[in-house]
Amino acid sequence: MTKKLMMLPGDGIGPEVMAEVQKLIDWINDQGDLAIETQNGLIGGASYDEFGNPFDDTTLEACRDCDAIMLGAVGGPKWDNVDYTLRPEAGLLKLRKQLDLFANLRPAIVFDALIDASTLKPEIVRGLDILIVRELTGGVYFGEPRGIEDLGNGQRRGVNTQVYTTSEIERVGRVAFDLARKRRGKVTSCEKANVMESGKLWREDMTALHAANYSDITLEHMYADNCAMQLLRDPSQFDVIVTDNLFGDILSDEAAMLTGSLGMLPSASLGTEGAPSLYEPVHGSAPDIAGQGKANPLAMILSFAMCLRYSLDQSNLASRIESATQSVLGQNLRTHDIMSDNCNEVSTADMGDAVIAALSNM
Ligand code: IPM
Ligand code: MG
Repeated sequence: MTKKLMMLPGDGIGPEVMAEVQKLIDWINDQGDLAIETQNGLIGGASYDEFGNPFDDTTLEACRDCDAIMLGAVGGPKWDNVDYTLRPEAGLLKLRKQLDLFANLRPAIVFDALIDASTLKPEIVRGLDILIVRELTGGVYFGEPRGIEDLGNGQRRGVNTQVYTTSEIERVGRVAFDLARKRRGKVTSCEKANVMESGKLWREDMTALHAANYSDITLEHMYADNCAMQLLRDPSQFDVIVTDNLFGDILSDEAAMLTGSLGMLPSASLGTEGAPSLYEPVHGSAPDIAGQGKANPLAMILSFAMCLRYSLDQSNLASRIESATQSVLGQNLRTHDIMSDNCNEVSTADMGDAVIAALSNM
């Protein structure tokens, strides 16, 4: 059976890291067990330059037609002065919202070979394996009213609205509890119930969902600011963290940095049953190193492994790719971002080739 993938490389280092996934797909197709057909689309600044908007409706419709979507990264200083609603980031938000990709899975795993890359002490981060489940299509990112209004007296007023409904809270909660069941059985739910009504509702709905369907899982509530602190103090207390869109944005960057390299971390954004899911690295477009062959393709490759596992029903192949990335790290190959003493610095393409070579030898 042929699987259809939409590739949206985007901006900055996006195209470079995506090229390594394409090489991997070509290798898989050559093996003959699985056929993956890819098509390319534009998103972000690349789409703005071509169509005058950061994500075109024809590309969106083509995405709906695919089994899954791979995305590189969006944004860069080139589009700093573009109108807010047409910025590269707006394209990504449109894709998430239109495909209803409400659950964003962001694992933060410390690879043994990279333990020294973390700014925290090795004994604090060794073996770390946290999964952040971030609500992705609601909250302050999308709430109405929003905007900047002119108050007329030389003053302006900027407004965004934090808003959640019970069904939005429950559906992301279910994803978190279901995943915890396959992991270490603990969910930490984060909000600011002490100061926000939407946070109070979040806590009450999570509590009710847990009591109704998930009493085998340990549920803990934590204020988001405390969570930010606990992530640095004692990250190993966490298994699955479930939180809203904005807190999830912040806490997932923090959790990612515990691992020492944003360049290593994949993510998946899942929607409703049957709809295509989106896979993208947690890192951004890194315009400062774009086009230099310095980018780390491993987060993109590991995002593709997540795609194989969650969308293409290929968990064996996914595990093999994950082992292959471990193996290249074990060979002391490093891209610039994770370079350390006694290792060999390699380019983006060399790293991609090394993963394929490791796979071929497995
Ligand atoms: C992320 C990014 C995005 C977000 C930006 C690029 C819109 O920071 O995926 O975490 O804020 O969600
Ligand atoms: Mg972010």
